[in-house]
Amino acid sequence: MRLNKTSPIPVSTRLAILFAVAGMQLTLPAQTTSEVPTLQIKADQVTGKVSPMLYGLMTEEINFSYEGGLYGELIRNRSFKATTNDVRFWTALGGAEMSLDTSTPLNDALNVSLKLNAAQATKAAPAGIANGGYWGIPVKPSTTYKVSFYAKAANGFAGPLTVAISSTDGKTTFASAEVSGVTGDWKKFETTLKTKRVATSKDNQFTITTKSPGTIWFQQVSLFPPTYNNRPNGSRSDIMELLGEMHPQFLRFPGGNYLEGNYFNERFDWKKTVGDLAQRPGHRSPWNYWSTDGFGLPEFLGWCEDLHMEPVLAVFAGYALRRDYVKAGPELEPYVQEALEEIEYVTGDAKTTKWGAQRAKDGHPKPFKLRYVEIGNEDWFDRSGSDDGRFAQFFDAIRAKYPQLQIIATTKVNSRTPDLLDEHYYRTQEEMELHALDYDKYSRTNQTKIFCGEWATRIGWPTPNMAGALGDAAWMTGMERNSDIVLISCYAPLFVNVSDLRGGGSMQWRTDLIGYDALTSYGSPAYHAQKMFSTQHGDEILATDSQNIPTAAYQPPARRRAGANTNEPPTAPPAVQIRKVFFDATRDSKSGIIYLKLVNSLGTPQPVKVEISGAKSVAAKGTATVLKAEKIDDTNSIQEPNKIVPATEKLSDLGANFTHTLPPFSISVLELKSK
Ligand code: AHR
Repeated sequence: MRLNKTSPIPVSTRLAILFAVAGMQLTLPAQTTSEVPTLQIKADQVTGKVSPMLYGLMTEEINFSYEGGLYGELIRNRSFKATTNDVRFWTALGGAEMSLDTSTPLNDALNVSLKLNAAQATKAAPAGIANGGYWGIPVKPSTTYKVSFYAKAANGFAGPLTVAISSTDGKTTFASAEVSGVTGDWKKFETTLKTKRVATSKDNQFTITTKSPGTIWFQQVSLFPPTYNNRPNGSRSDIMELLGEMHPQFLRFPGGNYLEGNYFNERFDWKKTVGDLAQRPGHRSPWNYWSTDGFGLPEFLGWCEDLHMEPVLAVFAGYALRRDYVKAGPELEPYVQEALEEIEYVTGDAKTTKWGAQRAKDGHPKPFKLRYVEIGNEDWFDRSGSDDGRFAQFFDAIRAKYPQLQIIATTKVNSRTPDLLDEHYYRTQEEMELHALDYDKYSRTNQTKIFCGEWATRIGWPTPNMAGALGDAAWMTGMERNSDIVLISCYAPLFVNVSDLRGGGSMQWRTDLIGYDALTSYGSPAYHAQKMFSTQHGDEILATDSQNIPTAAYQPPARRRAGANTNEPPTAPPAVQIRKVFFDATRDSKSGIIYLKLVNSLGTPQPVKVEISGAKSVAAKGTATVLKAEKIDDTNSIQEPNKIVPATEKLSDLGANFTHTLPPFSISVLELKSK
């Protein structure tokens, strides 16, 4: 039995539940005991090391995460492959006609072009095309934008072309430049657009127009603002800064479902996402929109480098979302080789390996540090029974060639012992609270450790509200207290473009950590909770115990019996009591600072008695960083990005024994100086 267990819920707090409502989740008012809850921290009992990799990020193309999100590209449908029947997201200007042309491709990858018939263009009435970006084109003062495109012309076109950023109504031009030299052969053109002292806005468009009559074909029309660290083909700075503040240790990519694709030909086919952007064909994401793959494997790695994260690389495992699969054996071998080559792209020597050389050609001669490789995603969906054999084949090949790598399974396997198992939890606040102590019971002798690779309290949308943050924080106390076995963890999904929340708009999944539109971004309360957890912890887990924790009765939703037929009504399991206060304690072995995380899910102030034993001394002075809300469904939004943010205050009444009152609906980190 581990020492950091918490005592059973007192019988006195048990509440009789008189009804069990099918499918309904119910939390009844909290039961309080007359006793103040006591939290014991045993400073002389270290139960394990906090995994230095515990807090990371998970990402995939969903909710316009890269295209229309992190990826700096501002042009929507730059390669005209979003649909095959129209030039989606582009409009013709000045009476010109535009169409998709498959007979004039740039190359085999970008095998279609936009054909502009500008026969009637004149000086007085220019003709051209316009793109409104991903729900707007952000314009900021004194900013230089990079423009590039491929073009060729015919039918007497004599140029030049004018590229510009203007307001959507066309009344204000913020910056423009001329491009000449378009001929009968495809050529790449590049220029810059620099704004002056203009107001910040997003209701804008990018245009290419001409006063000269003729026919012009375009491909890969691109507009980039300055990027984070000025990385070419890089990322949006404001979102990178939000992520950087979380101090993430790793990035799990490229998915999620995005790794698998609906079908084999829609998987993340990494070789098609490296090299020259004009040679990347792009593909449909399982979240139902086109990805240019401009944000491909090199860009994921660049993202890791920019934020000092280690990649946790997920390789395609021969199983797609719509249940296509390749069974273990010779047919699977090409996919195993593909995975080995992908690892070589990330880690191989630039001079002596083929894919290391490709990485160098893509701008990064130095190999990346890689310790974790994941085989597929959510293989528990595989009903064919092929998962165990597929895992074994990948496992053996990777272990043989790269014995230093930790191999992650995505479902329980019997054939091999994975180093880690990726578990996913999407839950209500109550379910998160109910399960917050689960890892306390996990066997310490189990060789397979845990990667909590997707988890979230799904309350609030497009981004979680305070209830979500409270559920998350309860869950994180459990992961952190057990991070000797939960080695790595990451919330999902990470991003959502909040511009169009209707069906078919910019959000495919409700409850996402960080929201943005074309111009600004914000962190949800859950983002701030995570930032507190990931930036304020020690390296040693301290044993804890507790008494008189307040609880509330909770009726879990009704479920159908396993194996029952669909006519059988679901039955509600018995009601349970769930805790409403959570905590864990870690210590920095060098400084002696004890980080005490405290979560109060109740809507009332909650005093707690803290008793620290086994330390020579605990200073009276310390700090509390607190995230709190007046109402449980309070939240941040693009209009009110900073409604709920943490604040740090100084405390002077601490010590080895003290009473501290937790504000209603709050998450606190107390920093206690101990010797
Ligand atoms: O995070 C959203 C989706 O949830 C992921 O793509 C998938 O792995 C999970 O089912």
